[in-house]
Amino acid sequence: MTDMLHLGQTLSFAGSPFDLGPEAVRHDRHGALLVSGGRIAAMGAADTLRAAHPQVPVVDHGTALIVPGFVDAHTHYPQTGMIASWGKRLIDWLNDYTFPTEARFADPAHAAEVAGRYLDLLLAHGTTSVCSYCTIHPASVEALFQAAEARGMRVFAGKTCMDRDTAPAFLRDSAQSAYDDSAALLARWHGKGRAEYVITPRFSPTSTPAQLEALGALWAEHPGCLMQTHLSEQTDEIVWVRGLYPQARDYLDTYEAHGLLGPRGLYGHAIHLEPRERDRLREVGAALVHCPTSNTFIGSGLFDMDGLTRAGLRVGLATDTGGGSSFSMLRTMAAAYEVAQLRHRALHPAELLWLATQGSARALGAEDRIGNLAPGLEADFTVLDLASTPAIAQRVAEAESLWEVLFPTIMMGDDRAIRSTWVAGRQAR
Ligand code: GUN
Ligand code: ZN
Repeated sequence: MTDMLHLGQTLSFAGSPFDLGPEAVRHDRHGALLVSGGRIAAMGAADTLRAAHPQVPVVDHGTALIVPGFVDAHTHYPQTGMIASWGKRLIDWLNDYTFPTEARFADPAHAAEVAGRYLDLLLAHGTTSVCSYCTIHPASVEALFQAAEARGMRVFAGKTCMDRDTAPAFLRDSAQSAYDDSAALLARWHGKGRAEYVITPRFSPTSTPAQLEALGALWAEHPGCLMQTHLSEQTDEIVWVRGLYPQARDYLDTYEAHGLLGPRGLYGHAIHLEPRERDRLREVGAALVHCPTSNTFIGSGLFDMDGLTRAGLRVGLATDTGGGSSFSMLRTMAAAYEVAQLRHRALHPAELLWLATQGSARALGAEDRIGNLAPGLEADFTVLDLASTPAIAQRVAEAESLWEVLFPTIMMGDDRAIRSTWVAGRQAR
């Protein structure tokens, strides 16, 4: 692949704004990014890099802002077509909308069509990497990894496992088949190109203890893999878990007792945590994933961003499509801001942008590859138009600081703010 020099405003992270404040952000009004072989080869001032590389073709993004590609740390791609389904809370929403929708993925052609449509929607919204649940059907995993391979995207995904009679019979596997199918998909895809396999028990209520045990054993055999599941999203769900697992100390214990708690564990939602759960998650170095548009849309509750980040937990940010109501990580940052405001914590735009990029990459254990702009990292980046609509343009007309210019795009922006999206150095949209 030929080298390319991208000119524009650039934004990258020297650390986490949760630790260092907004000074963690490096902003260059006249910056440049040298891309070579799908990776970032150098970053610096436009004049300097142009002089040092006079032969390299230039892409001039003008006053647009080059940021790391967005990383969506928890989604369900099979729910693409049912986003914004009206009027239900979690358990009814799963039974009435989600499970019938996911049943259609028994058809590999349907899975392939939705997987391609979904990834194209992500790219249009500036998202370059995603960690997705699939359905119980192995073909749904094949479809997503193949669509990602065709687009060059770093995608994390796994077969959703459900073997309990709380899930409908048409959408159940078994402890053994979940183990076997997951192991086969892992062997086939994990580390192939940019694919990463994620062991995926949906959540305790739809698995038998035997299935959780089998997937815990698989994880122990492949400790380098991520494991994703849901934790304490709604209070009704927690009561349900207590009834299904009477011997468990709490919801987290249903995972812990079966080998499903560890540093490469990703726990989606994690809203209504007990003090013991919070302490254990921190002790083992697990990651939480905040899904703010989902948590307001399904009526789940207000994630404690301030308390959990202060406690030192890793937190990623996610749309949770289709429980979440948007494909946009800009809209998701806005919702994270609003949810934190309801808990009396104003998240700084630097913190919001970090959560959507390096924070999510860190939650996925991939911060050495994606989520930032720095030499050696994969060249996944998004170019933002900071005056993409008349409403935003009039707001930023008088703005002076970077943050005053960027925050209206975070709060009011959508796919119109995405001027272009680049994956491993190639323009993907
Ligand atoms: N809990 C178990 N499955 C799901 C799902 O598909 N979406 C959400 N939001 N929560 C879940
Ligand atoms: Zn989810």
